[in-house]
Parts: sequence; C-alpha cells; structure tokens
Amino acid sequence: MLKMVRLHFRRLVTISTALLAAYIVLTYFSRSYKDVRSNVMDEETIRRLIDAEAEAQREAEKAIENWQAAHLLVKREEDVVVPNPAKPHIHNMQDMMKQVFRAYNLPDDMLAMDPPKYLQNFKNPCWYERDTDPPAKSYNHTLDGVRVKLRCLPYFHLIGVDKSGTTDLWARLAHHPQFVRPKAVMGKETHWWSWRRFGFDIWVRNALIRHFDWYLEHWDSSADKILRETVTINNTVYHPVITGEGSPTVFWDFTGWDMMPQNKGKKPEEAFITPHCIHHLTPNAKLILMLRNPVERMYSEYLFLDRFKAVHNLSAQLFHEGVSQSIDMYEKCVQVHSSRACLYNKTLHMKMPVRVLVGLYSEWLEQWLEVFPITQILILRNEDYAKDMATTLNAVIDFLGLSKLSEEEMKKITQMDRSFTRSEKEKKVGDMLPETRSLLEDFYWEYSMKLSKILGDVRFMWQDQQY
Ligand SMILES: *[C@@H]1O[C@H](CO)[C@@H](O)[C@H](O)[C@H]1NC(C)=O
Ligand SMILES: *[C@@H]1O[C@H](CO)[C@@H](O)[C@H](O)[C@H]1NC(C)=O
Ligand SMILES: *[C@@H]1O[C@H](CO)[C@@H](O)[C@H](O)[C@H]1NC(C)=O
Ligand SMILES: *[C@@H]1O[C@H](CO)[C@@H](O)[C@H](O)[C@H]1NC(C)=O
Repeated sequence: MLKMVRLHFRRLVTISTALLAAYIVLTYFSRSYKDVRSNVMDEETIRRLIDAEAEAQREAEKAIENWQAAHLLVKREEDVVVPNPAKPHIHNMQDMMKQVFRAYNLPDDMLAMDPPKYLQNFKNPCWYERDTDPPAKSYNHTLDGVRVKLRCLPYFHLIGVDKSGTTDLWARLAHHPQFVRPKAVMGKETHWWSWRRFGFDIWVRNALIRHFDWYLEHWDSSADKILRETVTINNTVYHPVITGEGSPTVFWDFTGWDMMPQNKGKKPEEAFITPHCIHHLTPNAKLILMLRNPVERMYSEYLFLDRFKAVHNLSAQLFHEGVSQSIDMYEKCVQVHSSRACLYNKTLHMKMPVRVLVGLYSEWLEQWLEVFPITQILILRNEDYAKDMATTLNAVIDFLGLSKLSEEEMKKITQMDRSFTRSEKEKKVGDMLPETRSLLEDFYWEYSMKLSKILGDVRFMWQDQQY
C-alpha cells in the first residue's frame, strides 16, 4: 500500500542520511588515515576505520533490502489490477469474503479481501459471481453452464462534501444515458465506507454493522442495466454504462479508523483509512469532489440537519453558540493530541454541536491525495456550478468519459428544478450573525490557504462576491 511504501520511503531517507553520514565519516577518517600513516600507525584509528566501513556496508545492505521490500509492496499493489483473463473468471462470493468476515459483529476487513478480477469488456468494474439464489427473471444468466450473476462496484465516487450541491449534480447526471444510479438513499448514498461498515449512523455510533454484501446489493439493479446496454466495437461486445456512489460523508469521516485490524497499535498518522480501502478494491476508481465556501456550507448544514432532529430550535444565536463551542472543543483537543488524532476522533465529532470539522477541506483532501493520483480526482466548486451548470456538468461528463450530450439535452438537464431549496422555516431564521461569520472565516482561513496551495488555485480561498 502507498502508506507502507511511504513508510519504507521514510526509512530509506533515514538510511540514506545514515549512509551519507558514514561516507563523510569515512572520508574524514581516510584523510586522517593518510595523515596518520605518514606519521605513526595508530591501532585504535585503524580499528575505528574498519568498524566504520563494516557499519557502512551493513547500512548499505539494509538499504537495499528495504528498497526491495518497498519495491515488492509496489508490485503487490500493481498485482491488484490483474489484467483480465480473456475468459471471464467466475468468482465465488464465499471465497472472496472468507477473510473478510472476521466475525459477524465486527467490521469487514476490507484490506484482506482479494479484489475481484474485473471483466475487460465492461467499462464499469464488474465481475461474474456464481448465482446460488433461485433464478430471478432479471438475473438468469449462464456462463459455461454455470448460473451466474453480474456484480458491480462504483466506477466513481462523488465523495463530498455535504451541502455543496452534490444531490443536485447527481440528479442531473442521472439523465445521462450511460450512467445508472444505485438503489440507495436518493439513488446516491450508502454511507458505507464512512459509517455503515463500522456501525455508525448519523446520530449514533452503535447501529447495526453492515457488511460488504449489503453494500454490494445496492448495485444489483445497476448491474442489470450495465449488462443489458451494449455497443459493438470491432466485433467485440462492450458495456459502456457506469454506476457510482455519492455518499458525501466519505470525504471527511475517517472516525472508524481504529476499528480496522491493520491499524492496531498504530498512530492515526500511520493508519489505513477509507481512501486505502477504496483504492485496494478499485484502484482505478475516479473521485469527484464538490466543495463550497466552508462558512456558507456550515450554516447551510446547520439549517438542513434540523430536519432530522427531534427538537427543532433554529436560531442564528444558537448557531453562534454551536460554532464557538465546536471550535473551542477542537482547539482544546489539539492542545493535547495531534491534529490527526482529533480529526479522526469519533467522540469529538459526536460531541460537537455543529460539524465545523467538515470544512477543513485541506486536511481531508491531503489524505486522499496520498493514495489517489490527482488525475483520478475532479475537484469542483459549488459556486461555479451554481453560476454555470452546463460547464461543470460537461467537465464531469468528460472526466467520466461519458458520451457528450447535445445542446438540447444539456438545456433540458440544466433547466430541471433544484434539488434543495431553503424551506420557509429555514428562511425565517435569516442569515448567520456577523460575529459568527468572522469566527468561521478566521477558523477556516489557514485551511483554505493550504487548499489553494495544494491545488494551485486561488479560487479555493473563497474570495468570491456574496453568492
Ligand atoms: C433460466 O435460464 C435457463 C437457461 O437459459 C432456462 O432454462 C430457465 O427456464 C430460466 N429460468 C427462469 C426462471 O427464467
Ligand atoms: C478497431 O480496430 C482497428 C484496427 O485494429 C483499430 O485501429 C481501432 O482503434 C479499433 N477501434 C476501437 C474503438 O478499438
Ligand atoms: C430555543 O432557543 C432559544 C435561544 O435562542 C431559547 O431561549 C429557547 O428556550 C429554546 N427553546 C427550546 C424549545 O429549546
Ligand atoms: C477525543 O475527544 C474526546 C472528547 O473531546 C476527548 O476526551 C479525548 O481525549 C480525545 N481523544 C483523542 C485521542 O483525541
């Protein structure tokens, strides 16, 4: 895994530094050796020279060993993308998952699971699985006399972020003929990678743990469409339709990290988190991230989440109190723990009155970029999307390699109603207080600066006029 490689790389750097030091010591000694020889041969000096040389030799050998280990890891990672055999391999779910279910009430060990060998003539990551269920009309396919069903995983993830227009984007994209949505919340969200596999849900941490088969079932109807739609290229049948997932918590919620067996005894800085797991399973997955001015996002989320609360009491004053308490809690945490430990701290996340941590985009994105190359991530801004929907949609269609839409089709899509608008009740609350705005602006400033640096794009300083 990349993280391991990185660790090895760090070790390599340490070793190289040691080698350099040994070299300097050696040259120094050999110079003094000549000096010594010209005078008197000191036994002590000679022994030190020999020792230093032997030590340098050992270090060099260790460096090579480590380099090979690191290299092997990289190779193993490549192995994950095994070229598809000409003849489709039929997977047996039970075999695939045997290592995954450690115990029914524990989260699946995703890094231990062998990823399926994806079929070559499908654009979407799909594979055949022995079908042991009674034949259903929609899944009655046979391959070499074996009854099989097609299983698929998302070709792409719209990973976030909450209240940035991801639902709206998704709903419009759904009109593209080469995209099929999963059977999930709003045709979009399972929150499996961030929450459900660890037994988390929006307000609770001890919900039912959902397993990989639960996750996979969301794409069974997508698989059906993917199988049905074909084009013939050079006498080869090809399946161009893709599916995806759009759980906005996946971008920022890594709080289940300490429930992964690989992280036992590890610091959060060294941990395997969701990006590693998604990459392990689908190394070619594409990621789309829609961001929004974190100050506006925070307020929008505060208003929105009230819909799910038992007691409704929205006010700009209460928002202010929630924001200042939450920022305070984070700042107190980082005085004692590393920032990563606080960002991955489930208790802290659950205790905060409002989710101010979601807006620390640079901190989350950094984690994704350690695993996925930037070429596999499309980063959009809600503000640009709101201003010019067609341009953003075309960028998404391009990024996903979907067929271009005609101007007329695009017009139809952009003229659809918006997915979310502020309710009358939410409008009555009015804008946030000016002091809340400046509190949030101060809190997010350095992170937005960092994000702009990472992306080399000042638009992520959110200095646009008021939207
Ligand atoms: C499934 O397919 C087989 C072989 O094509 C056929 O004999 C059988 O009747 C089908 N079953 C259903 C339920 O469609
Ligand atoms: C079809 O085959 C021709 C000749 O082998 C090749 O040049 C062309 O790129 C192929 N087209 C596609 C879409 O693969
Ligand atoms: C709602 O919040 C206000 C303060 O903004 C407070 O005075 C009032 O008691 C709260 N009502 C409930 C039902 O919590
Ligand atoms: C996590 O947050 C809780 C609540 O703020 C705090 O008591 C605890 O010390 C934190 N632990 C770490 C490791 O950050």
